[in-house]
Amino acid sequence: MIQGLSIRESVGGNDIDRIVALRYEILRKPHDLSLADAAFSNDSSSDTVHFLAVSDEKLVGCSTLIFNPKTGEAQLRGMAVAHEYQNQGIGRLMLSAAHARARNAGASLWCNARFSAIGFYERNGWVRKGELFEMPVIGLHSVMIWCGNTGGAETQPIRTC
Ligand SMILES: CC(C)(COP(=O)(O)OP(=O)(O)OC[C@H]1O[C@@H](n2cnc3c(N)ncnc32)[C@H](O)[C@@H]1OP(=O)(O)O)[C@@H](O)C(=O)NCCC(=O)NCCS
Repeated sequence: MIQGLSIRESVGGNDIDRIVALRYEILRKPHDLSLADAAFSNDSSSDTVHFLAVSDEKLVGCSTLIFNPKTGEAQLRGMAVAHEYQNQGIGRLMLSAAHARARNAGASLWCNARFSAIGFYERNGWVRKGELFEMPVIGLHSVMIWCGNTGGAETQPIRTC
C-alpha cells in the first residue's frame, strides 16, 4: 500500500478541474478524445459524489458516483488510477468507498465497465448484466452491477452472488 494515501470524498465543483484532468489522461486521451469529453454534465450536482485518492496532495485516482433520486440507483463513472499507481490497491479502495456510500443511501450500484476492466469489478463483488456492447470510439463495454446491496427491483432477477 502507498504511504500517506487517503481516499477523500468531494461534492460540488471544488475538485472538478483536477478530476477531469486525470480522467482525460487515463480514460480519454488514449482514444484521441478531448479534455471536454472528460467532463460529465452532472459533475457539480449535489447528487454526485467524487472519490479522490490523494498521495502527498497529488491526485492519483478518482471515481464518481452519480445518484438518481428518481430510480434509487447510483452510476459509478470515471474510475481512473494514474498509470504509475495502478495495481497497488487504489482502485479497490475507491470502490469500497463507493460501496459504502451506496449502501448508506440504500442505492443499487451499476456501471458501464470497459471490457479490459471487467475482471477488476468481478474481483470486487460486481457481476455482469446482459451482453457486451460497443461504446463509440472507446470500444466494448458491459453493464455491471454491485451485489453488495439488497438493491431495487431492477437488480433482483439477475442477482447471482
Ligand atoms: C481499472 C483500474 C481502475 C483498477 O485500479 P487499480 O488501482 O489498478 O486496481 P487494484 O490494484 O485496486 O486491483 C484490485 C484487484 O483487481 C485486479 N485488477 C486490477 N485491474 C484489473 C484489470 N484491468 N483486469 C482484471 N483485474 C484487475 C488486481 O490484480 C487486484 O486483484 P487481487 O484481488 O488479486 O489483488 C485502473 O487500473 C485503471 O485506472 N485502469 C485504466 C482505466 C480503466 O480501465 N478504468 C475503468 C473504466 S470502466
